[in-house]
Amino acid sequence: MHGLAVTTTEAIGDTKTRLHPVQERLAQSHGTQCGFCSPGMVMSMYTLLRNKPCPSLADVENAFDGNLCRCTGYRPILDAFHSFTKEFLCPMGDECCQVKKTQESFTSEKLPTEEGSECVTYDPSQEPIFPSELQLNDQLDKTRLVFSSNRVKWFRPTAFNDLMILKYLYPDAQLVIGNTGVGCGWQSTYQHYPEVIAVTNIPELLAVEPTVAGVWIGASTTLTILQEILQELVNTEPEHKTRVYVAIIDMLKWFAGNQVRNVVSIGGSIMTASPTSDLNPLFVSARCKVTVANKDGDQRTIVMDEQFFYDHRKNMVKPDEVLINVLIPFTRKNEYFEGYKQAHRRKNDTAIVNAGMRVLLDDDGDVIKELCLCYGGMACRTVVATNTAAHLVAKNWDDDLVQEACDLLEKELSLPPGVPGGMETYRNTLCVSFFFKFYLTVQMKRNAGSNLTEMKVPSSYQSATCVFERETSFGCQMFEKIQDEQQRIDPVGRALPHLAATQNTTGEAVFVDDTRPLAGELSMALVVSTKSHAKLITVDASRALQMPGVVDFIDHKDVPGNNNFGLAAQDQQVFAVDKVMYQGQIIGAIVAETRTEAQRAAQAVVVEYEELTPIFTIQEAIDSDSFLTSDPLTLRNGDVTEGFNASDVVIEGETYMGGQEHFYPETQTSIAVPSGEDNEMTLLVATQFLHYIQQSVAATLGVPRNKIVCKAKRLGGGFGGKVGNSALVALSLAVAANKLQRPVRCSLERTEDTRITGSRQPFLGRYKVGLSRAGIIQALELDIYSNGGYAMDLSNITTLRAVVHADNGYKIPNVLVRGHICKTNLPANNVMRGAGTPQGVFLCEQWMERAAEALGISPDKLREMNLYKEGDLTPYNQPLTDCNLNRCWDDVMKQSDYEHRQNDINVFNSENRWKKRGIAVMPLKYGMGHKLHSGDQAGALVHVYTDGSVLLAHGGVEMGQGLHTKMIQIASRVLKIPMSKIHTSETSTDKVPNASHTAASMTSDLNGMAVLIACDVIMKRLQPFVAKNPAGSWEEWVTTAYTDRVSLSATGFYKTPKEDHDWQTNSGDTYNYFSYGAAVSEVEIDTLSGDHVVLRTDIVMDIGQSLNPAIDIGQIEGAFIQGYGLFTLEEVRRSPTGFLYTAGPGTYKIPSMNDIPVRLNVSLLKGSSNPHAVYSSKGLGEPPLCLAASVFFAIRHAIAAARADVGLNDFFLLDSPATAEKIRMACADQFTRQFPEPKKGSYTPWVIGL
Ligand SMILES: Cc1cc2nc3c(=O)[nH]c(=O)nc-3n(C[C@H](O)[C@H](O)[C@H](O)COP(=O)(O)OP(=O)(O)OC[C@H]3O[C@@H](n4cnc5c(N)ncnc54)[C@H](O)[C@@H]3O)c2cc1C
Ligand code: FES
Repeated sequence: MHGLAVTTTEAIGDTKTRLHPVQERLAQSHGTQCGFCSPGMVMSMYTLLRNKPCPSLADVENAFDGNLCRCTGYRPILDAFHSFTKEFLCPMGDECCQVKKTQESFTSEKLPTEEGSECVTYDPSQEPIFPSELQLNDQLDKTRLVFSSNRVKWFRPTAFNDLMILKYLYPDAQLVIGNTGVGCGWQSTYQHYPEVIAVTNIPELLAVEPTVAGVWIGASTTLTILQEILQELVNTEPEHKTRVYVAIIDMLKWFAGNQVRNVVSIGGSIMTASPTSDLNPLFVSARCKVTVANKDGDQRTIVMDEQFFYDHRKNMVKPDEVLINVLIPFTRKNEYFEGYKQAHRRKNDTAIVNAGMRVLLDDDGDVIKELCLCYGGMACRTVVATNTAAHLVAKNWDDDLVQEACDLLEKELSLPPGVPGGMETYRNTLCVSFFFKFYLTVQMKRNAGSNLTEMKVPSSYQSATCVFERETSFGCQMFEKIQDEQQRIDPVGRALPHLAATQNTTGEAVFVDDTRPLAGELSMALVVSTKSHAKLITVDASRALQMPGVVDFIDHKDVPGNNNFGLAAQDQQVFAVDKVMYQGQIIGAIVAETRTEAQRAAQAVVVEYEELTPIFTIQEAIDSDSFLTSDPLTLRNGDVTEGFNASDVVIEGETYMGGQEHFYPETQTSIAVPSGEDNEMTLLVATQFLHYIQQSVAATLGVPRNKIVCKAKRLGGGFGGKVGNSALVALSLAVAANKLQRPVRCSLERTEDTRITGSRQPFLGRYKVGLSRAGIIQALELDIYSNGGYAMDLSNITTLRAVVHADNGYKIPNVLVRGHICKTNLPANNVMRGAGTPQGVFLCEQWMERAAEALGISPDKLREMNLYKEGDLTPYNQPLTDCNLNRCWDDVMKQSDYEHRQNDINVFNSENRWKKRGIAVMPLKYGMGHKLHSGDQAGALVHVYTDGSVLLAHGGVEMGQGLHTKMIQIASRVLKIPMSKIHTSETSTDKVPNASHTAASMTSDLNGMAVLIACDVIMKRLQPFVAKNPAGSWEEWVTTAYTDRVSLSATGFYKTPKEDHDWQTNSGDTYNYFSYGAAVSEVEIDTLSGDHVVLRTDIVMDIGQSLNPAIDIGQIEGAFIQGYGLFTLEEVRRSPTGFLYTAGPGTYKIPSMNDIPVRLNVSLLKGSSNPHAVYSSKGLGEPPLCLAASVFFAIRHAIAAARADVGLNDFFLLDSPATAEKIRMACADQFTRQFPEPKKGSYTPWVIGL
């Protein structure tokens, strides 16, 4: 930290003194849910404001490239921070309630603006002063530093000579600048460098020198500074000279995030020599030069030509040389330069393929004099298509060139099947598609510069050259106003912020791993299987036990009770005994004094395996008859044979939907604390299911459950991933703490968390559907296969939910659906938000699309004519009462102006060949309740203290969904006291026993009723004292009741009145009630790259009477964006041996701020109520996720428009997720035809579909 000052969110404001405006506005605008990302969001905004006190909207949108949030869907975060900009206006425009000042019953949720708001005005002059000793002098930056430990020596020389001496003394020393390339390897592979030299402060490596040829930039210059330098030159030099600079600036928009660009250096990028580097193809194509020096002081200049990157991560700089600077040359007249990049996610992602392309034309601007096409992602190095260029030089730059160039590129660069990185057909197609874009762009620029009247590029082709520039995101949120007659003190139905919002934004919120170390505490690291299916021959921890700090090795022999556990079946092991069933299965654990010591030693445990044949995919499981249940879960109603006989049209097909990682921001974390007495143990666990952890720990340790207490204050996200998964860490930790009788802590690294835990199941559906000619559905026969992994966890519930949601919102008289759970060598897959419903709904909407195409009816008309109506029976014979599905549908069609926009889209598509738009609408019927109604129960405990304060406990866990806030709103209404008098500190098994898991969107319903009942009991007991002293205060009534020896503590218990469904007779209610919704999404796709953007989404949700519209809209938006990830971006990729490639944020891409719909409008259905839940509310944490499939189908329609342009009007298969690869490859054209898919079975693929 020498010479640096670090500011954290804790330093800029707190809840005790004063909130910083950034913290306050984020909290007030509902921009924080679980709060795990909030300090990062605050500091990104704070940094922007410190650098630019009055930023533009675009500045704000760009400041969060490197921040991810899994809960909110980003809209409220952006709303909060847009309020710091000059342009800030309410997204409602003229409809803004401030503008209209009407008394309409609908209102918009809106961040209070500065004028008349409760938010503090931002005043940059009030910011903490940057330490003046650092501001006024750079002496500390000029000091030579050496840090050393017994493992590493870290040098920071400040003179070039000193650097060269160090390089001489330590020839193997690792040079670092940003340390992003080196440091990441350090963490992920435990690489060890005994000597490190940081070259960040050497003047020669920071110098910038403009020359006539271009600009020399010091190797240690960061990308942020590089961007500024180039922008300055773009502003001052003639346009034709700075075409390379413009391309680099454009590329930097897609390069990592701000935080990374602030430290990554130009030299580090060149020396890392990554084959997917974004900058190196530009540098090579531009013919940059580098200067290097060796230890003898000799300098040489190397041209970054096709030879420069000669092998994987190798370049022409020798190991004893140091890179000093880089020349980025100017371009010449008639020289054109462009950069391209396509990644899985638009921002902050590694390229699948990128390119730098340069052409120099002769003086007439027609004939090619020089051509350089340089690619990343097309080889194990940055590669130049030299043969292609050689053949094309001296040719005319005209339309005849394109096919020839594509053929040459195919010959020279095309990737063989099974190449590392996979996606070979897509990458080959991108390679030629990028050239086509380059060709068109140069044509456009030539045209622009030559005053030609004749257009060289047809108008319908021109949009192919544009990169989609997002407008500022905005949206509105509509919900019903509170009735005037509702008392002010009554908070139910009000749009109140999450009660922990300010703790979240100030960093005061305590998560499990924030708990201060306890006396004698140890750390645990897991030893996991590296094989997918194998016998364990030996497990040797002897070397690990010799390592510093190591206390013990724990395995199955240390389990005093039952080594088996599980939710639906006892089919998982705390520690593997003689066989491993998936890569990541826990074999043992190292316990050490510190986390680093435990992690290092865990790597040193040697495991010998005898490999067995694994099964990974659904098809392999079907072929091997490998299932987790002997019989399929079957839903039968009516007679499908009769239904098909009565049908005019019968379609058959299959569709696949990939899985999804939970990607909760807080990884699995627990602390186990033995009391030292009578086998008692307390566990702090980041779990959604404390009761399950308590019962499993007790069984594992062989003690009764009353000895084990499990607590959770809050979770950093859960999304279902902390139901069954949490047991994996908690149980091994309990065994360790029990054996050593010391507190032990374990917090998983992101990649090990992802490998060890299960996720959302991939699904395959095989369907047969019969319809009348007019489009009325007659029969559905469907086989659903879910990939459950090696053990059941909750795959039975998930698959059943898919089975019973196979009708989504449509009346189907004859149904036969069978759900099969495949047993494979993957982690035990489990519940994730929606638990099977998104899959069931998606399969249904897929065959609806196919049916529409078969009938020649538009999909929206087919959907509309089959929607359920009031009183209809579902296939499981449950009548739909208060069915608001049609109202949601009508409202969303109106709100989105669907028909008008469909016409606009048709016009757009007819005018654009390489960009297409699509729009789709879909309904949703979502069943609320657990599969077994035994889960539909809850308890609450209310203590009133003699000062009138209330401590409220219930069985639900707070994980960002605002549960505690809603429960306190309910308690406040019943007790008729302000919310500020009520507090919830944590959820614990010793306060409310046997609580159901916090999941299935039911927790507010169930616990809310329990809270209401408990508070009612208290109110009844206080009634005599109120009657005696009606003018008294709450405190007076409480005190008199206490003095009169009345208990001020009460429990509440609630169960839903419904009985379990009988699957034999297909009778009894499956669900307590239904939530309804509908959504319309519009997208634009780039058919040449597969890129897409969601232009607009409209959602109407029926959630009864909202308990808290702000929190509920937050849930809707957050769920929708998570669903958007599921259906478009997030792809779980494994190797043929089961290795998970996508185990961390570097490879697994959740939606970022840049991916959300440009416009997102959410309305809560007016005038809805629900007699089956507390205060007429409805559960909603999960349903809106399913509506994100509307984006998938909008993409599908856009692709269909592209295919129609080449005469392909037949049905085409598009599985989920609709990734850039799938979009591009489905948009068949001359470029895709060049690269037919290789024959399955003729090669070993790099990645397998699960
Ligand atoms: C979160 C994240 C996101 C990323 N996203 C992208 C992306 O979108 N696009 C992309 O292209 N890349 C991306 N990267 C990779 C990134 O570009 C590289 O890690 C980075 O370029 C390395 O630069 P650095 O300054 O951090 O180098 P360091 O890690 O400090 O060093 C890298 C290598 O350069 C050598 N070296 C450094 N200086 C010299 C010198 N003067 N002379 C000789 N050798 C030297 C070092 O010895 C080391 O081998 C990302 C990385 C991270 C961590
Ligand atoms: S609030 Fe952003 S990750 Fe939870």
